[in-house]
Amino acid sequence: MPKEEFRVQKIREGTVIDHISAGIALAVLRILGITGREGYIVSVLMNVPGKALRRKDIVKIEGREISSGEADKIALVAPQATINIIRGYRVVKKEKVKLVDEIKGILKCPNPTCVTNTREPVKASFHVERKGQVLIRCYYCGTTLEEEDIIKQF
Ligand code: CTP
Ligand code: ZN
Repeated sequence: MPKEEFRVQKIREGTVIDHISAGIALAVLRILGITGREGYIVSVLMNVPGKALRRKDIVKIEGREISSGEADKIALVAPQATINIIRGYRVVKKEKVKLVDEIKGILKCPNPTCVTNTREPVKASFHVERKGQVLIRCYYCGTTLEEEDIIKQF
């Protein structure tokens, strides 16, 4: 079976987001605000074979290093992802994304009667109940969101 290196070449500078859950690459690009019109060279691999017959997505962005705030958001949709910073063709930093315990001001509560949707200054806030298969709970009304519900918001 060909390695992914045969599908897309190595990059000189930028970021490789690897081990993205299969089929989630486009949500990752939305989180990063990459539409294609910014001019970055972007390679997107979807559903490529990874370890142990698992499939995964990979996103390579040339000339752009991503921030830790962006990595925290990526963890919401791809909790296994790793962020590889590439300089001079070398991986100079490799970090697994980390799901924070409290998610504030990023996601909306889907419950229309939740105080976060009815009163202006109250920002939605979620507690992370489960990290493997992400499950989060609204701090105000107890509504739970799973990975699918979270992906829809990006
Ligand atoms: N990569 C790249 N360009 C480079 C260096 C690496 O596109 N100049 C990509 C690799 O193809 C891989 C990812 O960045 O998808 C991580 O590279 P590396 O750490 O060398 O691979 P692995 O050891 O397989 O990573 P891991 O252990 O995190 O699976
Ligand atoms: Zn709520």
